[in-house]
Amino acid sequence: MNDKEMVAHHAAQKIKEGMIVGLGTGSTANCFIEALAKRHHQEGLQVKTVSSSVVSAIKARELGLPLIAIEQLTGLDVYVDGADEVAPDMTLLKGRGFDLVREKLLAGASREFWVLIDPGKRVSRIGERYPIPVEVIPFAWQMVRESLAAIGGKAELRQTANKDGLVVTAHGSLVLDTVFAETFDSHKLDTVLNGIPGVVEHGIFSHLASAVFCAKDGRVEEQIA
Ligand code: A5P
Repeated sequence: MNDKEMVAHHAAQKIKEGMIVGLGTGSTANCFIEALAKRHHQEGLQVKTVSSSVVSAIKARELGLPLIAIEQLTGLDVYVDGADEVAPDMTLLKGRGFDLVREKLLAGASREFWVLIDPGKRVSRIGERYPIPVEVIPFAWQMVRESLAAIGGKAELRQTANKDGLVVTAHGSLVLDTVFAETFDSHKLDTVLNGIPGVVEHGIFSHLASAVFCAKDGRVEEQIA
């Protein structure tokens, strides 16, 4: 088992009968979907799942996990996902992918949010390795960029890998990847970004994670909020 499989297996073992489980998106979340499907088939563990993305929904369906539509839910028991960065106080940076809006919606609506990482995701402060992704309404991108500049952020529209087009998220937003020259308080920045008109969502997940599971040296460390 590699680190991602190990931490995914650890999380899947904690899922209880009858739970509504939110499925994250990314390579680590994929390992969790596989581990959960294994328990469903081998042990008969009955769960319902809700997906944060089309990709995860397809994977869950292929593996035979019962899926319900996000529209039918008012809440869920646990949301399980990876992260791009994890600060010591369990603030996260997410949104390297295309599904930030659903990811934060499910994380916020869930009784618990378990984050699965390896030590390479740990940082001393949010924004250390990656820019902050800010999803914007397409027609608002220039105004939002000005608002970000006013608080010290240098924002660039995210382009496709081949640089022949702009990335459009699953929600239909453009992404302004934003770097701040000054060190910032991620909780304050979270609040400020939430208040900028035209911002749909952003990648700082503040006070949302209830546990971080980190695979290290063949075992899983748990950090609980
Ligand atoms: C999706 O938007 C991201 O936040 C992912 O959760 C994050 O990139 C982790 O992905 P990996 O598990 O593939 O590293």
